[in-house]
Amino acid sequence: MADILENQTIMTLPLKKLLNGLLPEQAFAELVGSYDIVGDIAVIIIPDSCQPWQSLIAEKILENHPHVSVVAKRAGNYDGEFRLLPLQVLAGEERTVTELRESGVRLSLDLAQAYYSVRSGGERLRIARMVADGERILVPFSGVGPYPLVISQHSRAKEIIAVEKNSSAHQYALQSFRLNKKLKNIKFYQADISCWLGGEHGTFDRIIMPLPKSGAAFLSSLLPVLSPRGWVHFYDMQLVDSFEKSFEFIEGVALQLGRKILYHNITACGHCGPRTYRICVDVKLE
Ligand SMILES: C[S@@+](CC[C@H](N)C(=O)[O-])C[C@H]1O[C@@H](n2cnc3c(N)ncnc32)[C@H](O)[C@@H]1O
Repeated sequence: MADILENQTIMTLPLKKLLNGLLPEQAFAELVGSYDIVGDIAVIIIPDSCQPWQSLIAEKILENHPHVSVVAKRAGNYDGEFRLLPLQVLAGEERTVTELRESGVRLSLDLAQAYYSVRSGGERLRIARMVADGERILVPFSGVGPYPLVISQHSRAKEIIAVEKNSSAHQYALQSFRLNKKLKNIKFYQADISCWLGGEHGTFDRIIMPLPKSGAAFLSSLLPVLSPRGWVHFYDMQLVDSFEKSFEFIEGVALQLGRKILYHNITACGHCGPRTYRICVDVKLE
């Protein structure tokens, strides 16, 4: 595997320039010029009209990126409970496992076995920078562990607890934890968060919920373990003019549980469709 690279989001090495004159006009016009680089794997989108030339496109990326060893195409969308992305390797080594650095933290992962989005790195650092000294933090839906690891690296939290249902994602989180030897204050659990909450784990100053849309179903069981004056970071997908609807949902659930909201802020942290954004609602509760 190549050297571990600091994550690079949405590479725009001029793919169109590289392929100029090599594809028929319609395929060239529909070519998606940008792609993600995750560790040493380039993840590309191949529109139907470009399919006959997908190997050529992949080889061009491989030739022009000395640090890329694998080129894979998205063979579908993020799907299922574990939010897995189907991938097809088109060029380079036949693997989807890689290592990378995000905000100074080493991560080991298999892009086909667990969810990971390089595009959310900035958002994870934003949350890590909000953490005050001595906080106890809960990260349900923790995947391969980027939130707990980045928070541990960039804060003086007392304890970070991560809960993930996908056993493969959990195993990679443990592996990354071992790679980052100086980080000590994280506990990783492999469990369904609903079952895990049935145990005795105390209360948390901050709960981070990186499961847009389906995460909403878990809010009413998570709020009871939030300390007074604690924070929730609730991820959702919303149309550009409907961001406040996500806040209203949280406010409704909180009021039902007798909790008032003291403050809220909404950040758009990703584009996920026409006029639709991945948003994070930060709320501080009484
Ligand atoms: C969108 S991914 C986010 C992963 C990670 N936090 C990140 O930012 O890369 C959501 C994760 O929630 C996990 N998940 C879904 N339902 C769950 C549940 N009931 N309990 C625990 N984890 C769950 C999925 O397996 C997936 O890894």
